[in-house]
Order: sequence, then C-alpha cells, then structure tokens
Amino acid sequence: MVAETRLTVDDLIAPLFVADGLDEPRPVASLPGVLQHTTASVAIEVERLVALGVPGVILFGLPRAEDKDPEGSQAFAPDGITQRALATVRDRVGESVVLMADCCLDEFTTHGHCGVIDPRSGQVDNDATLPLYAAIARSQANAGADVVAPSGMMDGQVGAIRYALDSTGHAGTAVMAYAAKYASALYGPFRDAAQVEIADGGDRRAYQQDIRNRRESMVEVRLDVDEGADVVMVKPALTSLDVIADVREAVDVPVAAYHVSGEYAMVCAAAERGWLDGDAVALEQITAVKRAGADLVLTYFAGRLAELLTGA
Ligand code: PBG
Repeated sequence: MVAETRLTVDDLIAPLFVADGLDEPRPVASLPGVLQHTTASVAIEVERLVALGVPGVILFGLPRAEDKDPEGSQAFAPDGITQRALATVRDRVGESVVLMADCCLDEFTTHGHCGVIDPRSGQVDNDATLPLYAAIARSQANAGADVVAPSGMMDGQVGAIRYALDSTGHAGTAVMAYAAKYASALYGPFRDAAQVEIADGGDRRAYQQDIRNRRESMVEVRLDVDEGADVVMVKPALTSLDVIADVREAVDVPVAAYHVSGEYAMVCAAAERGWLDGDAVALEQITAVKRAGADLVLTYFAGRLAELLTGA
C-alpha cells in the first residue's frame, strides 16, 4: 500500500530485431531469448507482446551485409527492412501497439558509424548526416511508425527530424530522442545482434557522451526538448540512475531509459550459472530504473516481465 514505485506492464517497451534475407528467426548468442526476426515472425512476436499487455515495441532493422553502403541508403529505402517490418506489424496488430523505430545509420553503413564520413577528415560529418536522418524518419513514418527514435547522437538531429516530419504531413508522429546516450561498453551484445562493427576498430566517442560527465547530459536533454523531442531517453539505464533522476526533475516530457543489451546479458549469464535468480534481478533492476524517475523502460526483459507482472 505504501510502495512508492510500481512497475507495471504499461511501463515497458520491447526492442526487437528484424533481419533481411532470413528464412527463419535466428537466436543471438550473447542475448539469450532474443532473436533476429523475419518480418513474419516479428509480427507474431508483437502480437504475443500485445496480448501480454506490453504497450510499445521498437524495431531495429538489419539489412543484408551486401546491401550496406557508405550512406546507409537501405535505412531510408521505402522497401528497406525496417519499413517492411513496420508495415507487416501494423497490418497484423493494427493500432493495438505503439510502434516505434530506431532511426540511425550504423546498422546500414559499411563503416559502421552512425553518420556519414567526411572523406577529407575521415571523421563522422554531423551536418551531412542530418538530411539522411530526416529521410529515415519520413520513410519510417510513411511505413506506419508512431514514434521515431533517433539514436545516432548527431547535434541537431531532433530538430531536423521534427521539421522533416511536420513538413510532410507527419505532424502526429512523435520523436523519442536518445538524448543522453553514453559511449558505453554495455552495447557489446547489441552490436552482435545487429551485426554492427566499426571498421578500423574505431569508436563512437566523438558523438556519444563521456561516462564521467553528468551535467553534460542536461545540455543534451535540454537541446532535444527545445528541438521538439516528445520523449527523452537516457541510456544505458543502471549506470545512469543519477542522470535519470536529474532529467526527471528538469523536464516535463516523458523520460525513457534503455536497459541495454549488456545489462540484460549480464543478468542472463549469471542466472544461467545459477549464480542469481534472473527473474528477481530483472524485476529489481527495472523497478530501480523507475524509482530513479523513468516513465518508460526499454528492456529485452519486457516479455518476461510482462509474464511475471501479469501472472501470465
Ligand atoms: C545505434 C544504437 C545502439 C543501441 C541502440 N541504438 C548501438 C550503439 O550506439 O552502439 C544499443 C542498444 C543496446 O545495447 O541494447 N543504432
């Protein structure tokens, strides 16, 4: 009766991978229980999650290796894998789910960066990337996305996307901004799942945040809110509880937190060895993320937590 925090199924968003060119779903070794889906199997999975009461899913499209190019053009192709998956899911479950799409280039580029590369400097070109993000967002909205979620941490990405959506009849499509996103080693299993590898052993420290900085997150979050973000996200979750609390205090839009692949994989690995109770730890961690101030949590535990929370 006096509990201050209640985790419910309404708080959960399930990340789902959809890969092009698969005949059947494929397990991801470093993310037990997570699959690379086909467009058909992802629609069935979303239907299952909706039946469990999960209100939202976020799709990550993965192109065939031979379809990657330096601009990541399959990310904004009208018949790209994300766009086809969005349409298939929408067809199957109608309006019963909030359908989100990760809006980024790294899965689609040959070099694995979240933006295009300036040939002179060899660095990611922030401003040249913005029109491509705008094109991704438009194509995802056309394919049926309710929410686009820019995760590439380019300066100005939210404004560019908001303008692109508003000027093409998609004023009702929301932007969930990966606002405070740290350059984290906890994304390791995701890169496995998404088959993303940065060529030449590079990293994302030029555009993702330094884990040592807390106030910097507020600069990022405020910019995104000013540019029109409808939801701001903090990522990863457990190493950013202080940041989640700061953001919750400072802004009035919903705050999401992403319990990322490495956070999920650690719990699964320890549970597999019998070293801890995976279900109990999942409940504890995601409840703590809510206690810190998150309104929504993106987690690979979404389906399992929905079962636990609803007794299904
Ligand atoms: C970028 C993106 C990443 C994740 C979500 N969007 C990878 C990265 O920034 O390297 C990571 C999610 C996770 O680890 O679960 N498209």
